[in-house]
Amino acid sequence: MPHRGGRLQDRVAFVTGAGRNIGRAIALACAAEGASVAVADVDGDGAERVAREITDLGRPALALRGDASDFADVDRMFDETEERLGTIDLLVNNAYARVGTTNWASFLTVEPADWTEFVTRNTDMFFGCTQRAARALAIEERPGAVVNISSNGSDRAHRNHIAYDSVKGAMDAFTRATAVDLAPWGIRVNAIRPGNIQIANEPDEVWPGEQREHQGSQIPMGRPGTPDEIAAGVVFLGSDDASYITGQTFNIDGGLLTQGRSPQVEFVTVYTPENIGPFSRRLRG
Ligand SMILES: NC(=O)c1ccc[n+]([C@@H]2O[C@H](COP(=O)([O-])OP(=O)(O)OC[C@H]3O[C@@H](n4cnc5c(N)ncnc54)[C@H](O)[C@@H]3O)[C@@H](O)[C@H]2O)c1
Repeated sequence: MPHRGGRLQDRVAFVTGAGRNIGRAIALACAAEGASVAVADVDGDGAERVAREITDLGRPALALRGDASDFADVDRMFDETEERLGTIDLLVNNAYARVGTTNWASFLTVEPADWTEFVTRNTDMFFGCTQRAARALAIEERPGAVVNISSNGSDRAHRNHIAYDSVKGAMDAFTRATAVDLAPWGIRVNAIRPGNIQIANEPDEVWPGEQREHQGSQIPMGRPGTPDEIAAGVVFLGSDDASYITGQTFNIDGGLLTQGRSPQVEFVTVYTPENIGPFSRRLRG
C-alpha cells in the first residue's frame, strides 16, 4: 500500500489479530500513515510476516505472538511494545477467536461450555486490551484512540451465528460505555461494523467461491468489501481527523444494513426439526 499522508505520523498502533486478513490490512494502513505498529496474533508466524511487510515500508514494527484474551499475556505484549516502540496511541481490537460448536451452528446445538468459552475469550480480549491501553494513556495524561472491529451481526441477526452476534452486540455497548467513561481523559472509542469482506477462505468457510459472488450481487454496492476499505475507516477514526467523534459505530458495508434484509440468510442452512440431524433424534427421544 502506498504511503498516503502521515495521518498517524509517529504514533504507536497496537493491532490484535493482525497476522492476516482484515487485521493485516489495518496494520499495513497504520504503517503507511506513519505509525509504528505492534502486530499481535496467536499465530506468531503470521505476525512475523506482517511485521516484515511493515519494516519493508520503512516503518518500525514489532511482531508479538500472544493471546489477546489472556490478561497476563496482554500485559506482557503491552510492556514489550512500550519498551520497544513507546506508549500506544491507537489500539485496534480486531482479533476474534472461533470456538467449537459456536461457529455457524443452530442455536439448539451450541454446547453451553463452548458458549462460555466463546463469550469469555472474545469479550476478555476487548476488555483487557482496552483497559491496559487506557490505563497507560491516563497515567501519562496523553490522548488516544480505540477502534473496535464489530460486525453488522451486532445490529441484524446472522442465521446460525448466535454467539458471534451476541459478542459483537456486547462490543458495540462496550464501545459506547467506554467512550463515555474515557472521554474526560481525551481517549476516544469507536467501532466499525464491516459487512461482507473478501478475505482468504477458511477451511470451514461457509461462503466459498460462487456463494460470496452471488451474495456480493445482493449488496447495494454490488460487491463484497475489501480489508483495505475497513482499514481506511480505522485510520480515519484513529487520526485527528476524527477528533470530535467518540462512542460511534460505523457500518462499512456497501449499503448492506441500509436495505431491509441481510443477503446472508439466503445461503446458510435453515435448520428445522427435519434436517437438524442427531439433535433432532434427541428431541424426539
Ligand atoms: N471477514 C468478514 O467478512 C468480517 C465481517 C464482519 C466483521 N469481521 C470482523 O473483523 C475482524 C477480523 O476478521 P477476519 O475475517 O480478518 O478474521 P480472521 O479469522 O481471518 O483473523 C482473525 C485473526 O485473529 C487471530 N486471533 C484469534 N484469536 C486470537 C487471540 N486470542 N489473540 C490474538 N489473536 C487472535 C487469528 O489468529 C487471526 O489471525 C473480526 O473481529 C471479525 O469479527 C469480519
